[in-house]
Amino acid sequence: MLDLDPAGGVRGRAGSEHVWLARGRPGARVVARVLRRRRSHVQAAVLRELEPGPGRVEPRCAHVADCGGCSFQDLAYPRQLELLLAATREALAPLLACGVEPGALPTSVEAAADTYGYRNKMDFTFSNRRWVLASEPAGAASDFALGLHLAGRHAKVLDIRRCEIQSEAGNEILRATHELARASGLAAWDSRAHIGVLRHLVIREARRTGQVLVALVTAPGHAEPVAALARALVARCPSITTLVHAESARLANVALGETERVLHGVGWIEEHLCGVRFRISARSFFQVHTAQAERLVERVREAAGPLRDRVVYDICCGAGTLGLAVARDARELWGFELEPAAVEDARANARLNERERARFVAGDVRDTLRAERLAELGAARPDVALVDPPRAGLHPRVVDSLLELAPETLVYVSCNARAAARDLPALLAGGYALRGAVALDLFPHTPHLECVYRLEHRTPAAAAQA
Ligand SMILES: C[S@@+](CC[C@H](N)C(=O)[O-])C[C@H]1O[C@@H](n2cnc3c(N)ncnc32)[C@H](O)[C@@H]1O
Repeated sequence: MLDLDPAGGVRGRAGSEHVWLARGRPGARVVARVLRRRRSHVQAAVLRELEPGPGRVEPRCAHVADCGGCSFQDLAYPRQLELLLAATREALAPLLACGVEPGALPTSVEAAADTYGYRNKMDFTFSNRRWVLASEPAGAASDFALGLHLAGRHAKVLDIRRCEIQSEAGNEILRATHELARASGLAAWDSRAHIGVLRHLVIREARRTGQVLVALVTAPGHAEPVAALARALVARCPSITTLVHAESARLANVALGETERVLHGVGWIEEHLCGVRFRISARSFFQVHTAQAERLVERVREAAGPLRDRVVYDICCGAGTLGLAVARDARELWGFELEPAAVEDARANARLNERERARFVAGDVRDTLRAERLAELGAARPDVALVDPPRAGLHPRVVDSLLELAPETLVYVSCNARAAARDLPALLAGGYALRGAVALDLFPHTPHLECVYRLEHRTPAAAAQA
């Protein structure tokens, strides 16, 4: 078995043992040291590489050995795609036991044209626990960092001034924030003691309109100095069209605030995807690779089939991206989403694109997809459901609701083949057949691969024959 580990290594078998090899590369020969023996696997780290294995290239990023971000930059892009496809098909193998033909699983990957500078959103972390590089002199100051978490060591932050997968405008904002934040004297957050002020910097760019949103996430209670920092940042980086100050008292390290104040601009950016206008605010999900997101929309459109006069549900809809882009002439479009700010964006997006027949419902889909709730809302039964859950996949109660609603066509979108391998068998057992799946790379240099699965409800007679 071959698997790309999200922490930037590989998982596989060595003899009878299951091994997780940090910084390992498929096909490489290495000398490794066993770090830990767990019941299910052995954790090891590469000490020395004897042979690099196929497809090794010089990574562009100076931090690739330490950073927990895009860890597969040292593999040639075609090799990355080959490995991702193999790992995805392997993870989907349980579907074969449910009667799925191997040809219905993804057989190729739609590559991205832009593999660097592609991310339209980055979340950088402030920390008073900077990761000190082995090359630095002993005693180097380590009380301030703005950057990305270290691979496998979440408490430490790698201080960076440049990230290769965001744009040059993003890198300029990162550098300016670093300099101005240091000069402001505001303390970087201590994620163990839960003290300090500055927690996260979020940079979000609309690639089609050039608008840029910056969110400064801080601990509560520092409005004035943070406003001064924001003013200096906007003056230094005129590309910033809007800036939001979000305050978070949460212990968890999440780049979102409980409250938000708009300090500059309108508080959101506008992006265009497949000719549809989208307003996106700091808290809303939006696909991170704009060009590939347009292709994703096309694949979802193909999988959904003609939608004229049909009732379409967009489940886990975010700001309404998939539904508004594919279901232009649907009889009814219903979007369901947990995050209230995303629902507000989705409603604004329906207005922006003059979709009077689109409705968006806030709440957990475990509740909002229940028959009684749908009856209260006056939602007709769906002919087609687009389902794009978070990485962890669907709650079993949502799978039950889908089986009860029984749309003719179900388009399931996921960047996690393991979650798909858990969710799809229940849908297959409940009367659906997998008619095909396609894969697109939305996250170059990472171990994630987006797949679109098309499921059709079998008629009772066909189900009985199967
Ligand atoms: C992968 S995103 C997809 C968003 C959207 N389909 C798109 O393409 O932009 C998953 C979305 O599910 C939402 N979500 C997560 N858990 C949810 C739940 N229990 N109920 C409803 N929505 C949920 C997240 O807030 C997020 O917007």
